[in-house]
Amino acid sequence: MTSVNVAVIGVGNCVSSLVQGVEHYRDGKAPGLPNPVCAGYAISQVRFTAAFDVGAAKLGLDLSEAIWTPPNNSRRFAGVPRLGVPVVEGILADGVGPGSAGLIDPRGGATPGEVAAHLRATGTHVVLNFLPTGAQRATELYAGAAIEAGCAFVNCMPAVLARSPEWRDRFAGAGLPLVGDDLKSSFGATLVHRALVDALTGSGVRLTEGYQLLGGGNMDFVNLEDPARMKSKKATKTTGAGTSTHVGAQYVPFMDDRKIAFIRLQGEGFGGSPLELELRMVVEDSPSAAGNALDAARHAKAAMDQGVGGLLTEVSGALMKAV
Ligand SMILES: NC(=O)c1ccc[n+]([C@@H]2O[C@H](COP(=O)([O-])OP(=O)(O)OC[C@H]3O[C@@H](n4cnc5c(N)ncnc54)[C@H](O)[C@@H]3O)[C@@H](O)[C@H]2O)c1
Repeated sequence: MTSVNVAVIGVGNCVSSLVQGVEHYRDGKAPGLPNPVCAGYAISQVRFTAAFDVGAAKLGLDLSEAIWTPPNNSRRFAGVPRLGVPVVEGILADGVGPGSAGLIDPRGGATPGEVAAHLRATGTHVVLNFLPTGAQRATELYAGAAIEAGCAFVNCMPAVLARSPEWRDRFAGAGLPLVGDDLKSSFGATLVHRALVDALTGSGVRLTEGYQLLGGGNMDFVNLEDPARMKSKKATKTTGAGTSTHVGAQYVPFMDDRKIAFIRLQGEGFGGSPLELELRMVVEDSPSAAGNALDAARHAKAAMDQGVGGLLTEVSGALMKAV
């Protein structure tokens, strides 16, 4: 049976949910999965072949163990057998943010050539990038390594890659698929925010202002406390928000991987009549994006099968926050 051989960059909470999800949905039956079969591939055909990280505590562990290693704190919903995939040392660059000091002991002396060699040796088809928000340089170095190794690349985080004409050209020139930037969650604050904006503007409402205020206790929120890193998340979150939107994020340790979002929209309806809408939602953060990550990986592999390279525009538009 043909498989979708996947490498993950950054074995954090999102990858924990992803790896658990592949076990949980192996029989294709359980609810909560957007597409049991996508682009001709079932979940049981997704296979993890390589994993990169820079946190000393995770290096050398099997992927099935590293996903439970602190500071990861995502919900445990499936047992994962030993996968035979060791977490290997990656390229540090700008991966670990200043807020992570004391939580991650960073290594990361690998070169892009070594990363490419590992991708080739493990028969990887698709690289999923789950680096912390703000890791622009590291993302570019891994993307270059993916091209060198002949792999498709899915940029699941807010670094500018699919939005960069230069990187689109590089992937197109190599005949390799590119999907990005920054995964949409199947059910997340951005999706709900945009649905509300669309519903209101579709009814003729003129939106004037709004906000999306977030709180959570995972490493993504540690990172988002850094204004420079928050800037790149804000850019993907406000794409399509359609109005002046304030986006804020607060690290609240006891929330662990739960995320709370407060969304507000205000504007004018018929005859200029004022209206306000407020919404509060709570979700488990990392599992909410795993379904779209699995779809993106399978679409990327199917494109490779058909010899299609460059930005996968439709797939990116459907699964990613900013294209
Ligand atoms: N629902 C969601 O959680 C969601 C949705 C969309 C996008 N994202 C994005 O996905 C990314 C990952 O989120 P997360 O919650 O898993 O983050 P996380 O902080 O839990 O995990 C990041 C992992 O990357 C590792 N790392 C850091 N620098 C590295 C480097 N240079 N090379 C290799 N590994 C490195 C860290 O050690 C850590 O294990 C974030 O950018 C986030 O914004 C998350």
